[in-house]
Amino acid sequence: MSDLLERLRAGLPPEALITDPDVTASYAHDMASFCEAGTPAVVVLPRTVEQVQHVMRTATALRVPVVPQGARTGLSGAANASDGCIVLSLVKMDRILEISPVDRIAVVEPGVVNAVLSRAVNEHGLYYPPDPSSWETCTIGGNIGTASGGLCCVKYGVTAEYVLGLEVVLADGRLLTTGRRTAKGVAGYDLTRLFVGSEGSLGIVVKAVLALKPQPPQQLVLAAEFPSAATACDAVCRIMERGHTPSLLELMDRTTVRAVNAMASMGLPETTEALLLCAFDTPDPLADLAAVGELCTAAGATEVVPADNPAESELLLQARRMSLTALETVKPATMIDDVCVPRSRLGAMLAGTAAIAEEYDLTIGVCAHAGDGNTHPVVCFDHQDPDESRRARESFDAIMALGLELGGTITGEHGVGVLKKEWLARELGETGVELQRSIKAAFDPLGLLNPGKLF
Ligand code: LAC
Ligand code: ZN
Repeated sequence: MSDLLERLRAGLPPEALITDPDVTASYAHDMASFCEAGTPAVVVLPRTVEQVQHVMRTATALRVPVVPQGARTGLSGAANASDGCIVLSLVKMDRILEISPVDRIAVVEPGVVNAVLSRAVNEHGLYYPPDPSSWETCTIGGNIGTASGGLCCVKYGVTAEYVLGLEVVLADGRLLTTGRRTAKGVAGYDLTRLFVGSEGSLGIVVKAVLALKPQPPQQLVLAAEFPSAATACDAVCRIMERGHTPSLLELMDRTTVRAVNAMASMGLPETTEALLLCAFDTPDPLADLAAVGELCTAAGATEVVPADNPAESELLLQARRMSLTALETVKPATMIDDVCVPRSRLGAMLAGTAAIAEEYDLTIGVCAHAGDGNTHPVVCFDHQDPDESRRARESFDAIMALGLELGGTITGEHGVGVLKKEWLARELGETGVELQRSIKAAFDPLGLLNPGKLF
């Protein structure tokens, strides 16, 4: 241990090293509940690529595991420490290095906060779409590590679609450059894409070239109330079938709506069984909203209310973004699923989730990126009640089984971490896992990078 600290000190300024156990303990885990987390030996907060290289060379020399971290807003335990590890926090590498309106790219360090980047590019008339609900605090490095999604993905796609190139410090300290800063490029295997969603298991992202879009007009949101999840899902299918491209299409069930109102008095309609939020950032959003409003009514909506202005629209989005936090107040503990199904199966997914809630006698609130078929069933329970805890875990698993049965994936955007390891193997199959393990071994032969995650 003293050898480790001594060697780390040789290449890091004193303020980049935290050893106080009270402080290092606060870096032990991300926001996922019920995921194992060990005790880190040390937390390092490098500011330069060279310092990251020094950390990785030291880790390799001494065979010490390294757990890379961003803002720890993740929901699968992927950033959780393992015993005796170096926690490598990238939050101090937070510079936006370049914004190019001609090339439509930004070059950033990993610790840049998502919302900071979004606002900075807005000033150039540009738009960085991926917008996880935690966008005010989460970092781009974390977004890349977990291949984050968000509300706008139904129109603009997820993080993977915006990462053009990377600089990555490998386990042994070498610096790898992947990808491009050009509009096109097909030179060799797409290692950039491989790193996106690799949960810190292949290397440390120290720089990213991100694609930008021209900033669209401000979006306007419509809220539609439905008497059942089934009718709301029918509306989603009709909207997509008719060729509409909303800039978001979100669903909140009754439990979620009530939890949000209770937490923040948002004035959402409490009698609705399912609230659908649909937005357009097109040149004539009112016309698009009117067309979608008609489809909602045809599907059975009891109330269709377009927001009057962008400020009111933003309030509705805030209400949606706080869903998870609000559901966390329903019971002492929660587990959040992230199953994504083909959107044509969304109705079946929600009906099945309701049946699971009944079978296990639990409250399971659901919010969903409905336009993507990406659901977040939140199992609410009392972790001090052993029987309820058991039922919670079983229902959490049953939801993933249902997602796979419906042709979906166990995780649309939160990743595997430690929470869904067993389920990753089920989704990938034996050959898939074998190949993924060989890829991991090619990048990290000593198994030092974020051990115990994914597999
Ligand atoms: C959301 C997060 C939980 O959709 O993914 O709010
Ligand atoms: Zn989400």
